[in-house]
Amino acid sequence: MAKKTLDDLGDLKGKKVLVRVDFNVPLDKKTGAVKNDRRIRAALPTIKHLLDAGASVIAMSHLGRPEKATPEERANLTMDKVAAKFSELLGKPVKKAANEVVGAGVTAAVAAMKPGDVILLENLRFDPREQKNDAEFAAAITSLADAYVNDAFGTCHNDKDASMVAVPAALKAAGKPRAVGLLVAKELEIIEGLMSAPKAPVLGIMGGAKVSDKIAFINVLLTKVDQLLIGGKMTYTFLKARGVDVGATRVGDEEVVAAGPLLKHVGTKIVLPVDYVVAKSDDLLQTQVCEGPIPAGFEGVDIGPKTIEAYKAAIKDAATVIWNGPLGWFEQAAFARGTQYIAEAMSASSGVTVVGGGETAEAAEQFGYADKMTHVSTGGGAFLAYVEGKKFQSLAQIDDRA
Ligand code: 3PG
Ligand code: MG
Repeated sequence: MAKKTLDDLGDLKGKKVLVRVDFNVPLDKKTGAVKNDRRIRAALPTIKHLLDAGASVIAMSHLGRPEKATPEERANLTMDKVAAKFSELLGKPVKKAANEVVGAGVTAAVAAMKPGDVILLENLRFDPREQKNDAEFAAAITSLADAYVNDAFGTCHNDKDASMVAVPAALKAAGKPRAVGLLVAKELEIIEGLMSAPKAPVLGIMGGAKVSDKIAFINVLLTKVDQLLIGGKMTYTFLKARGVDVGATRVGDEEVVAAGPLLKHVGTKIVLPVDYVVAKSDDLLQTQVCEGPIPAGFEGVDIGPKTIEAYKAAIKDAATVIWNGPLGWFEQAAFARGTQYIAEAMSASSGVTVVGGGETAEAAEQFGYADKMTHVSTGGGAFLAYVEGKKFQSLAQIDDRA
């Protein structure tokens, strides 16, 4: 059932609308500059729609994990640079609220807002009450606005974030309208369509490091796909679990245990790489392509040329492709081939192509293929959890459309 969305909010002229966005964007470690603005761009249609309808917008997001940051890192987690990027992309000024998440300064700034104005609150996680779903904190935020929009798909799986759960719950109790934004509506529609009636043949492509984190996701995918192609670091987990020597590749014992129950699908639904690029751990310039055991001192860094060709052919034959996790160590140009060719093959497909968020989306974007996919999710953990069929507390606060 579809959730209420922007058109269900009623007349917005002169209204103040709280919009929870996910502007938790990757930052340059040294300068704190926004390294990838995809999540900001993804929220613009909702913001523009609200402004065009005569509302003013109070946007709010978390950024990073300040509770775990050093004071130096924390200084880079203020929303100032995000606000500047948001303003540039929106093409109008965005006021960054005072150096507090809620309080007298914010209340005064919001009271002075006129239709068409945009304010971005300070990093929600600077207030420890945000991640405790605190009711008082939620009440302070709620008092600022007439309506609430959740357009933060990447954070929808967080059940303890006040801005995601307690705030819309408080608005609900106060009889104020709530809706999902255009981004969340689109993410839900695409993922639901993908999982309920994917067009066959359906191909899954899984990469990344940890099988243990993705075990529930893999198990659900196995019920939907005709084939699940494996790449990335988890390749070596599967190999080790099958008793193949993985040389110097680091594979944790708990990963091998997690992969155990999946081995029965290898050779039927699960397809492992037939070859892989390995590099010498103490001299990454020394590489070779390997088909069997990995020599001592070498570690697996990418899928090999035969595997790339086989995977490209499978993508060409598929009507639906779902991809999550890089196929190799793509941040290193020399080991990015697998990830790049898979992204390229998907972008050339005439079928439905969906990319799970996080670093997979970053890879698709880095190689210039993101715009040629059917959908690139803005959710990393949220994408996995939604596919797994988890029920989100955040979305439970938004009513279904009549
Ligand atoms: C994400 O990128 O996963 C979301 O923005 C949520 O952030 P979190 O993982 O720190 O809760
Ligand atoms: Mg996360």
